[in-house]
Formats: sequence, structure tokens, C-alpha cells
Amino acid sequence: MRTHVIIIGNEKGGSGKSTTVMHLAVSLLRQGLRVTVVDLDARQGTISRYFENRQLHMKKHSLDLPIPELLTLRAEDGGGDAEGIEELLAGVFEDASNNADVIIADTPGSDTPMSRLAHSFADTLITPMNDSFIDLDVLAKIDPGTMTIKNPSHYAELVWQQRMIRAKRGRKAADWIVMRNRMGHTDSINKREIERLLADLAKRIGFRTVAGFSERVIFRELFHQGLTLMDVAEVSGESALSMSHIAARQEVRALVEAINLS
Ligand SMILES: Nc1ncnc2c1ncn2[C@@H]1O[C@H](COP(=O)(O)OP(=O)(O)O)[C@@H](O)[C@H]1O
Ligand SMILES: [Mg+2]
Repeated sequence: MRTHVIIIGNEKGGSGKSTTVMHLAVSLLRQGLRVTVVDLDARQGTISRYFENRQLHMKKHSLDLPIPELLTLRAEDGGGDAEGIEELLAGVFEDASNNADVIIADTPGSDTPMSRLAHSFADTLITPMNDSFIDLDVLAKIDPGTMTIKNPSHYAELVWQQRMIRAKRGRKAADWIVMRNRMGHTDSINKREIERLLADLAKRIGFRTVAGFSERVIFRELFHQGLTLMDVAEVSGESALSMSHIAARQEVRALVEAINLS
């Protein structure tokens, strides 16, 4: 298998990028794959902190949990200009691919040159979005009168530009997955409208949607221990898993399958 690069991106904070990175990384490690996580959101450092918490938890409880290689990149590492940053990223992904089957990059919820260019290295781009019109607005402008798509928004433009850069390098097009996060359990007009608009947008700008994670407290609770749903059974025993845990774990597995690594 060639090293597969997964970029988790959305120019919107709080959409679930870091949560997705940690669950994907641990799931893939548990499948026996070698994983490198790249933190491109060093300012916030969520994913780095999460793996720090994991190390501390392992030490405190004498546990041996799978842990990925972690790389942190800062924009200034690349010498500032776009060319320098692109070169830096190319080098980092190339180096990391020597000892990783999968590289997963966490990106900030804002447009930085580093995050922007990282998108051009994606074999798979996963965009988690909360199920709200505010989140949808990052992807497309909606005409409130007719509730139809007016035009793609800034993040969709960014992805399009990075796809062009990637094509110029002669690389296969990225598989863009929009993942709906924090889904409510009840059916609502809102939910159905977003679904309809996303289906329309998917055809226009070239992504596919997958059902992501439901709104569940458990996704918030594990961070400070550095654990994921994929660890709970090993750490506390299968009987410690509630119905909600099991359903959530299933959602993570479904996402991993949807990526279709090969
Ligand atoms: N499916 C979910 N259910 C409940 N809380 C979630 C879910 N996904 C993410 N969260 C919480 O939402 C907040 C933002 O998630 P995070 O992964 O940090 O987003 P981002 O990296 O895009 O800023 C965190 O507190 C996280 O625990
Ligand atoms: Mg984050």
C-alpha cells in the first residue's frame, strides 16, 4: 500500500476536525497500520495536547496504548512564502511516508497558507461540518428566498484551487468527503433541508457525503484522558461500554470504512 494522506479540513472552528483526527488515528493504529499525525494547527495545538494527555494517561495507569508519530509544523518553519511552504510540506509528507501507511493532518479553522497548501497533498480530504446553516455557509451561499444554492463559498473555492495545484503535479484527484457531525437524533425540517442542499452541492463541486458522528457527550469526555471510543473496551472492559458508546464506536468504524483505504 502506498502511503495515504488524509487531510481533515474546514475553515470553521468547532466543526469536529480534531475529534475526527484522533478517532481516525487510533482506529487505524488498532488495525495495525503505521500512522503519522501532522498538527498544522500548532497555535491551538489540540491534537498535540490530546496525544500528550494520552501519554500521561498511559504512564499513570501503566497502559500500553497505540500511539502515532506526531509532527508539528508552524508556518514560519517554511520560510514564509507559498513556495517555501509548499516545499516544506512536500518534504514532510515525503519523509513521513517512509515510515507511515497513513498520514493524517489536522488543520486550523482558519485560512493559513500552510493549511491551504496542505489540501493539495490530500488523497482523501475529510470536511466535518456541524449540521447547521452556519456551517453550510462555509461551503456554499444559499439564497434564503428560494433555499437553493447561489454559489460555492470561500472554503469550496480553496479546495478547488488546491485541486488544480494537485492536478498540475500530475496527482490523482482527491476524494473529498463531507462528513456531517453532531447529528441530532430527531428528524427535523432543518436537517432535511441541509441534506437536500448538500446533495445538490455535492454534484456541483465534487464531494461525497458520509454520515459522521451523532451528537454524543462521549466525544467530549475522552479528550483529557487522551482516549478514544476505540480504547474504552481495552482500558475499562467491554462491559463499560454503554449503548451510546457502542453506537458511537460504530459510527467511527463506518467512517473508516467509507474512506476506503487501499
Ligand atoms: N459528535 C460530537 N458530539 C459531541 N461533541 C462533539 C462532537 N464532535 C465534536 N464535539 C466537540 O465539539 C468541540 C469542537 O470539536 P473539535 O474536534 O475540537 O473541532 P475543530 O477541531 O474543528 O475545532 C469539542 O469540544 C468536541 O469535543
Ligand atoms: Mg481543532
